Amino acid sequence: MDKQNLLEECRRDVMECKRCVLWKTRKNVVFGQGKPEARIVFVGEAPGYNEDLKGIPFCGKAGEVLDILLSSINLKREDVYITNIIKCRPPENRDPEEEEIEKCTPYLERQIEIIKPSIICCLGRYSLRYFINRFSLKEKGSISTLHGRVMEIREGLFSSVKIVALYHPAVAVYDPNKLELLKRDFHILSRFNL
Ligand code: URA
Ligand code: SF4
Repeated sequence: MDKQNLLEECRRDVMECKRCVLWKTRKNVVFGQGKPEARIVFVGEAPGYNEDLKGIPFCGKAGEVLDILLSSINLKREDVYITNIIKCRPPENRDPEEEEIEKCTPYLERQIEIIKPSIICCLGRYSLRYFINRFSLKEKGSISTLHGRVMEIREGLFSSVKIVALYHPAVAVYDPNKLELLKRDFHILSRFNL
């Protein structure tokens, strides 16, 4: 089966998912969007109000910032793949809970196994924490110290994949002065052949 079909198969499973409590309050599952052959995957936190309504990742204000950042390095959404750590919206946009992350991330792992990107960009602290733990990366610190850093996975199935720590685009929604900083971090991606 090709990547497109494998992703569709995975999407169908997620649409029916009731593994954690978030299924009860979601309007739509937000599975992911983009090119199945993408070399770069962006992983945000969780769907917000707009994403929940439409079932599309980053389709609200943070998404507008993400589009600006992508176009600053000559990329479009169609060139990349975008998804989140968890696929259903936490009520009132509360932080995702440990158990929800644990229940949901097997889907993210499946998406990554299908797409086989060479670069995974963590958007924000939840995503960064997940990948640092998941791959036992040696880097210690938070998004405020690690943003803009390229980290290497050295073991297992994903060895040779690079993890890039980036601020969550919503940061620039709350503080437009941060946009330049986000653009500078994004610029690091232009050194890769995407
Ligand atoms: N914030 C996220 O982390 N993901 C989305 O899809 C939208 C906003
Ligand atoms: Fe399933 Fe993930 Fe939605 Fe929870 S957040 S119901 S684990 S798809």
